[in-house]
Formats: sequence, structure tokens, C-alpha cells
Amino acid sequence: MTYFSEMKEKVKNIKHKNEIIILGIETSCDETSAAVVRNGREVLGHKIASQIELHKKYGGVVPEIASRKHIEVINPIIDETIEEAGVTLADLDAVAVTHGPGLVGALLVGVSTAKALAYGLNIPLIGVHHIEGHICANYIAHQELTPPFLSLVVSGGHTHLIWAKDYGEYEILGQTLDDAAGEAYDKIARTLELGYPGGPIIDKLAKEGDANSVEFPRPYIKDPHYNFSFSGLKTAVINYLHTLNQRGQKYRVEDIAASFQQAVIDVLVDKTIKAAQDIKTDKVVLAGGVAANSALRDQLGQSCQERGIKLYYPNLLLCTDNGAMIACAGYYRLLKGKISDLNLNAVPGLALINKI
Ligand code: KG4
Ligand code: ZN
Repeated sequence: MTYFSEMKEKVKNIKHKNEIIILGIETSCDETSAAVVRNGREVLGHKIASQIELHKKYGGVVPEIASRKHIEVINPIIDETIEEAGVTLADLDAVAVTHGPGLVGALLVGVSTAKALAYGLNIPLIGVHHIEGHICANYIAHQELTPPFLSLVVSGGHTHLIWAKDYGEYEILGQTLDDAAGEAYDKIARTLELGYPGGPIIDKLAKEGDANSVEFPRPYIKDPHYNFSFSGLKTAVINYLHTLNQRGQKYRVEDIAASFQQAVIDVLVDKTIKAAQDIKTDKVVLAGGVAANSALRDQLGQSCQERGIKLYYPNLLLCTDNGAMIACAGYYRLLKGKISDLNLNAVPGLALINKI
């Protein structure tokens, strides 16, 4: 019997266990993370090693450096996580891993490690889509949350409005046609020489600024579709700064940060509310790195509340890339029998829709 057919049989038994323990592994970008999660939602052990300090001096993630660091820390991180969880490798029922989208070299470290563990322990391997992981972070943060709901996924690589019909079943309503929201934050921060990553820095500075000081464009805000575009907004901010610099005019960085951020948030809030009303849902789930943004949480929260919609978002730790959200997504895939074979590969541009 091949590994895969043996695992297909094994899953039938695992599904009926009272306690299903999954190791989740995440290495798609600049966080090496592992978590041990019981029954999809209870985190027993969780470690996140951030590489931010390493990439800071380059103003962004350097893929080759990221891969090397993942290789260095992945095994100790897994050992520490298992120890913190108070379990042994023999207690694991399955291994879930992000296999895309992300940086290919970085993804490969997690995928190879997960394959070795799954094969060595003779347990199922589950390939998880990174965006699905971000959405699932909310199942851990909100134990009562169940699909269906609308999800706004905003991160360094993604800006998606997704109709989550059921566990593991998604319909993409709209997405960015160019830069992601987080990418725009990072690029504006770089132009303003504020450091990396730009999101948290701009979030903080914006609190001291006047959001009405500059009227930056709100791309597609009036359009009937749910797609986004942030590259034009980014160019508008950069051009505005160049013009001021050429004229030798001074400006308050806080005002630029606040005005830029308001343009991003206005579009995100507007489109999300419109989609929620169109599909008639009263549940909106915010996910991804940019979900940590305090103004976005407040303003989307306020708009939802005014319309009787409940907004969910994860705590700050679960907004960032982490292994717990991958273990959670893996759990729901396992319950549906959607496991992977050992030929699972890292797919940098993996589409969410293929995972259904
Ligand atoms: O989800 P994530 O950790 O990685 C990806 O999957 O891309 O998201 C990282 C992104 C970065 O662009 C970062 O600047 C942004 O999330 N970010 C924020 C905040 N914290 C992180 N953006 C706005 N406000 C924040 N507080
Ligand atoms: Zn992410």
C-alpha cells in the first residue's frame, strides 16, 4: 500500500477520535512558526520566530536570507513547540503546512520538514493555503465563530474579499488588481524612510496626524465591483511628496501617514460593507497582517455595528503569520478527507479557488 492510500484509510479513523492533535507549520515569508492545536481551535503550544530584524536593513524581505533563516530555526522551533504543548511526536495525528502562496525557497523549508515528519511518523500530511490559514485564525480567536461569513483578507501579499461558504469552501468576490494593502503601507513607509515593516509604523504615526490634510485618491470606491487597486494611490502619495520636496515645502509625516491610511481604509470599509449587504450576511471576518491596524479595526467595527453586522478579528499575535492558523485550517481539511500526498510542492502563486 502506498503512503497516500494508507493515509486515506487512516483519516477515516482519525476523524472519529475525540481528540485530534495537529502540528501546523508556517514558513511562507519571514516568520518561522509551529503550533500544536487540539481539535482545530485549542492551541496547546505555539512558537513564532520573526525575521523582521534580519530584513530591516534591506527595507524588505530578502528571499534568500529568509530561506536560510527558516532552515536554521525550523527544527528547534518545532521541538520547543512540542515541548510547550506537553505532547510527544507520537501524539500527533497529522502535520499541516503552508504550501503557497509565498516565497518558493521559504515555503520549501516548511513543506520538506512537514513531509519528513509525516512520512517518518506515518501520519497524514495536509497542504494548506496561506489565505485560508489567515481566515482560520479567527476560529481560534472566536470559538463560537462558524461559516458562512464574509472575510476581508488584508496582508503584505493579499487583499481579498472572500465569501466563506463553509469550512474550506470559498468564493472570491474581489481582490486587488495590483499592489496589496500591506504592500502599499510598506512602500509608502520606505518612501518616507520610516523603516520596515511599514504597517505598524504608519498605524502609530497616523494617530498623531490629520487624516483630512491631503485628499488622496480612493481607487474604485464608486465602482460596482469588489476589486481593489492600491498602486495608483501609492504613486499619488509618492508624487505628492516629490512635489513638496522640489518646492522645498515642509510637511508633517504624521499628516501624510494619516491621509494615506484614511484613503486605504475608506476603500476597504466601503467595499466590505457593500459586499456584506449584497450577499446579506451579518458576519464579517477580518484577517491577515493588516487586520492588526487599529484604525481599520475601529472604522470597520463602527460601520458594521451601524448596520447590525458583527465584526470578528484575531488578536495581534494571530494576525501575523503563524502556525496555529495553519493547524486549524489543516484540521478542517482533514475532517473533509482533503489530505496531501508526499509529492506536495511549494507553489508561490497558489490559487485559493483550486483548493475547493
Ligand atoms: O500576513 P502578514 O504577516 O504577511 C503576509 O502574508 O503578507 O502581513 C504582513 C503585512 C505587512 O505589509 C505589514 O506592513 C502589514 O501586514 N501590517 C500592518 C500592520 N501590522 C502589520 N499594516 C497596517 N497596520 C498595522 N498595524
Ligand atoms: Zn500572511
